[in-house]
Amino acid sequence: MNTIDALLTRNSAPRLTTPIPTENQLEIAYKCALRAPDHAWIRPWKFIQISGKGLDKLSKAFVNTAKKLDKNVDPEILKKYKEAPYRAPLIIVLVADTKEHPKVPVIEQQLSTATAGQNLLLAFHEMGFGGIWRTGKFSFNKEISMELSLKENEIVIGYLYIGTVEGKTKRIPELNSKDFVITWE
Ligand SMILES: Cc1cc2nc3c(=O)[nH]c(=O)nc-3n(C[C@H](O)[C@H](O)[C@H](O)COP(=O)(O)O)c2cc1C
Repeated sequence: MNTIDALLTRNSAPRLTTPIPTENQLEIAYKCALRAPDHAWIRPWKFIQISGKGLDKLSKAFVNTAKKLDKNVDPEILKKYKEAPYRAPLIIVLVADTKEHPKVPVIEQQLSTATAGQNLLLAFHEMGFGGIWRTGKFSFNKEISMELSLKENEIVIGYLYIGTVEGKTKRIPELNSKDFVITWE
C-alpha cells in the first residue's frame, strides 16, 4: 500500500480481536511514531503498550480513577469502565511527556504526541491491522496519570485500541474538500 492509499483508506474499527502486531511490526510502528513533527526536538512522546494481563491492570486503573472522580459513581457505569479495556487485545496509551520550554508551549507538545498517535494508526493500518482512538473520562486528568504511575508532567492524551478487525468496517464518508479549504491566491 502506498502512503496516499493508506491515508485514504484508514478507517476506525471498534470491534477488534487477535492477532495483534508482532514485536517486529510494533517496532516499525513506533519508529513511524517517532517521526512525528516535533518543535525543538523535545521528544514529548511516551507510549504504554498494554496487552494480556496488562489489560486487567488498566481495567483496575479505570475503576479506581472513576471512583476518585466521582465517589457516587453508578455501579452500571463502573461495570462499563471495568470492561472497557477488553474491547481490543492491544491498547497503546498515548502520553504527552511535556517540558517547560521558552518557545514550545505544552499544547504544541501534546499536538506532537497526537501526530505520533496518528502515525501509529496509519502504520498498523498499512500492516493490515485495525484500530480506534478513544479518550473519554480517562484522559487529560491527574487522577488517571497517578493510576498509571506517570510523572507530574505527563498526561494521557488518548488510547489507541488495536487489533485485527472483526466483521465489516464502516463506509468511509465522502467529504468534499471544498467545504474545508479556503484558498488565497
Ligand atoms: C482525540 C480523539 C478522541 C476520540 N475519542 C473517542 C472516544 O472516546 N470514543 C469514540 O468512540 N471515538 C472517539 N474518537 C473518534 C474515533 O477515533 C474515530 O475517529 C471516529 O469513530 C470516526 O472514524 P474514522 O476515524 O474512521 O473517521 C476520538 C477521536 C479523536 C481524534
